[in-house]
This record gives sequence, structure tokens and C-alpha cells, in this order.
Amino acid sequence: MSEGIHIRLEMLTGAAQPDGVQTATESFAANELYSPTLSRGAQRGTFFLETFGCQMNEHDSEKVAGVLLARGYKQVKTPEAANLILYNTCSIREKAAQKVFSRLGAYRDALGNANGEQQKIGVLGCVAQQEGEKIFSRAPWVSLVCGSASYRNLPQMLARVEAGEERVTGLDNDTEETFETEVTRRDNPWRAYITIIEGCDKACAYCVVPFTRGPERSRDSARVLAELRSLADLGYTEVQFLGQTVNSYADPSPRKMRFSELLTEAAQVPGIRRVRFTTSHPRDFTPDIIEAIDAHPALCNHVHLPVQSGSSRVLRAMQRTYSRAEYLEKIAMIRGAKRKIAVTTDIIVGFPGETEEEFEQTLSLLDEVKYEGVFSFKYSPRPNTPATSMPDAIPEEEKSRRLAVLLEKQRAIQMDELSRMHGDIVEVHVDGKSKKENHWYGHSSCNRVVNFSSTATDILGQYVPVRVSGCTPNSMLGEYAAAL
Ligand code: SAH
Ligand code: SF4
Ligand code: F3S
Repeated sequence: MSEGIHIRLEMLTGAAQPDGVQTATESFAANELYSPTLSRGAQRGTFFLETFGCQMNEHDSEKVAGVLLARGYKQVKTPEAANLILYNTCSIREKAAQKVFSRLGAYRDALGNANGEQQKIGVLGCVAQQEGEKIFSRAPWVSLVCGSASYRNLPQMLARVEAGEERVTGLDNDTEETFETEVTRRDNPWRAYITIIEGCDKACAYCVVPFTRGPERSRDSARVLAELRSLADLGYTEVQFLGQTVNSYADPSPRKMRFSELLTEAAQVPGIRRVRFTTSHPRDFTPDIIEAIDAHPALCNHVHLPVQSGSSRVLRAMQRTYSRAEYLEKIAMIRGAKRKIAVTTDIIVGFPGETEEEFEQTLSLLDEVKYEGVFSFKYSPRPNTPATSMPDAIPEEEKSRRLAVLLEKQRAIQMDELSRMHGDIVEVHVDGKSKKENHWYGHSSCNRVVNFSSTATDILGQYVPVRVSGCTPNSMLGEYAAAL
């Protein structure tokens, strides 16, 4: 993670996590399972794919890998072993974007792979879309620059790169279709991402996403559900619907399914035990979503609802389209659900003109809501956004101070909330065995990491009851309840 320090109560693996890094090792391990069956083309070159950014970017990388594997490419663990190095980039904050250029510089220095062949480098994702051809001027050793709306043309673009073309671009802002590929190589054997809406129409004053991902485009509900059914047939039990504003979903098909109806249908797909969705925009968070969660236990009891600030004046300046009071009404609605729903959020400190008093309103909001987790960021000016030219920039040290104060407060709130769960039984999906003997880890419906003890030997991938016996700032501890 870069400058944004995140309090991770580890339920947060479901939240939008910009700057997150998916390691090469993770994607390679999963790929080895898939490549023999997916390869149907001639053996092509090898590729290394590294991903920065949010879950939409992670999922895009799964699609890119799927497309390449299906065409006979092989994924490798290290950039040195690859013919083709692909970077899927994030530009949400300045540091994330800068990281891309420093990494590209490192690869220029190391050009020429282990086989002595020249490597080709491609920049994908949000920095590619935002910077476009400028990337070639700053990093002339890059051969391909391609934004997320053009990935379906990637095989053709790569063929041109391989044929020796020096500057291949895919930068159109596709406004009709979301990117769908015939094959996706998923990294996790149980939890699958499905993008249901691309882009963003919200125009928050600080944010690059509308520029990098274009306008909102929703996928046909029938296609979303068909993908979900086929994932269930393959053995996936958990799905996460993705969108920058997932609950602004607007079914383009004649069925015109509402977001809550799509959730309801998804919850009833045989084999699907958990349905998640992220990220929700407060403006479009309507009571029918809570009614659906109440009615269907498969809909997880976790909502990521970014607030950004506790001050209505700052929210107005941010163009967030809700006031503090209106946001708190949404929280009251969520707290009124039959099951306890964990709520997590994103906060920006040091937005231009944010006074000490306005910052304190954010702190008081934390006290009022008692979030189960917070991702907090120092405001970072981004190109083309209205906030970049706003007066009264907050000095860097002051932003850091506010961030530290906020983190400290939230840490105390989280420990307090977590310790209240002592003795509760939670259902845990078992993700793996830890190194310590008879210890396992998994995650709960509210998306917390749970470390627990059990003498069982065959619970991997299962849903088991765990009695909570303690907590750390980042996880819950417990024992397999059936064995007590
Ligand atoms: N679509 C989601 C998330 C967008 S990016 C939403 O609207 O909530 C994830 C988070 O990054 C945002 O919620 C915001 O807190 C943070 N962020 C976005 N732009 C930023 C900027 N310019 N500086 C600092 N943080 C930013
Ligand atoms: Fe960015 Fe706002 Fe859209 Fe979220 S809702 S992606 S913060 S413009
Ligand atoms: Fe980053 Fe693009 Fe996601 S800017 S947060 S990777 S939409």
C-alpha cells in the first residue's frame, strides 16, 4: 500500500482497495492449475502480469490472463522469465501513478530476458487510459498502452507488438459494452468476482475514475446470472459483484432488474453460499437492498459505504451528492436490519479547504457510526479533476497529522467493537491451513479474517462454525465450535 494507511480489520478484503498489490506468486500459483486445459492455441510467449489498484483492476487482470492463456501464452512467476511484461496500473492517487514510472524504469534497466530475447512491455489500466501516448514519451521502451475498455482487442494488439510494431495503443473509451471475455482465469478457487457495472457517472471533485474508466455501463442481468450459474457449476460458492458504484446498477435488458432484485436472484442460485457487492454509493443505497439482505442469508452482512468526510460543507465541495445527515440516515437504515451488518468506509483527510473543525466532524462521525473498518487516505491532487484547482491546499504534514489522529481513533473503536464479539459463533469459510499445527484461517460473512484452531483435517473450502475467543486489530481468533 502506498500513502493511504488502512486500518484493515481484514473483513476489508471485500472493500475497494486502491493501491493493493496482487503478487506475481499468487497469480502464478492459480494459473498453473488452469493453463493446461485452457491452452488451445500454439505455444506463444510467456507473460508476467502485475496488478495495482482496486478489485476491478484485479478482476480485469484475471480476464487478461484468461485471454492470453487461451491463446497459448504461458504465465510466469518473474518478469525476468517473461517475453511480455504487463502492468495493470492504478492512478487513483499520485503515488500510485508515480510507482508505475519508477517500475517501468527498473525494467528498462533489466531489458533482455533470461533466454536472451528482448522483452516487450505493456502498460494497462488506469494510468494507461489517463496518460495515453504520453507514456511512450516518458518511457519509450514501452510497446503497448491499453486502457480497460480495450482489453477485448488485446490479442490483436499483442500480435502487432510481436510483429515488431513499436507503439501500439488501445485507448478508446468504449461506451457500449462492458469488457467481457470468453475465458477468465480466476485467482481464488472459491470466491469469484463478477463485474456488473463499469465506469462512473458520479464526478466526485477529487476523483480520476470517471476519466480512466469512462461513463457507467451496466451488464445485462441475464448474462450476469448466467455467469454466476456457470461459476456455481464449477464449484465456486462465493461471488462478489463489482462496480465503482455497484448499487447504481441499471439493467439494460427489457427485464430492467433492480440491483436488489439481482442480489435476490443471485442469492438463490444453487451452490452459491455468499454474495457480496462493492462499492456502494450512499446516494443510491436504497431500503430494498436491506430488505433483500434481510430476506436472504446468502447476501453477506457487510456493506462498504464510503463517506469521505463527516462535514456537509466538505461533502458539498467534494460533489458527493449527500450531506452528513443524509448519510447517517443510510447508516440508520443499515443498523435497522434484522442481522447485524458490518459497515466499512473510505475517508479522505485534507481535502482543499478542510478546516480543523471540519476534520473533527469526521472524527465525530467515526464515533457515531462505529465502523467495523476504515480505509483512510490523504487527499492527493489528480489531473483534470476540479479539486486540483481549488484554493487552500492543506500542507502535507497537516494531512499526515490528521491521518494519524484518525487512525488512532478508529483503532480504538475497532478493538472495542471486536471485543464485543467474544463468545459469538460465526460461520467461517475455511481458506487455508496456517503453519501452526491445528490452526486454520478463513473469513466470515462480514468479511473478517478469522484465525481458529481445529483438529479437523478435511475442512478446507468448507463453511464451519467458529466460536470467537479473542481478537487482534486485524482479525478474530477462535475455535472450531463443533469440536468444543
Ligand atoms: N467508487 C468508489 C471508490 C473509488 S476509489 C467510491 O466511490 O466510493 C477508492 C477510494 O479512494 C475513494 O473512496 C476515496 O476515498 C479514495 N480516493 C479517490 N480519489 C482520491 C484522491 N484524489 N485522493 C485521495 N483519496 C482518493
Ligand atoms: Fe470516484 Fe466518486 Fe465515482 Fe467513486 S463515485 S469512482 S469516488 S467519482
Ligand atoms: Fe485505481 Fe483505476 Fe481502480 S484508478 S482504484 S485501478 S478504477
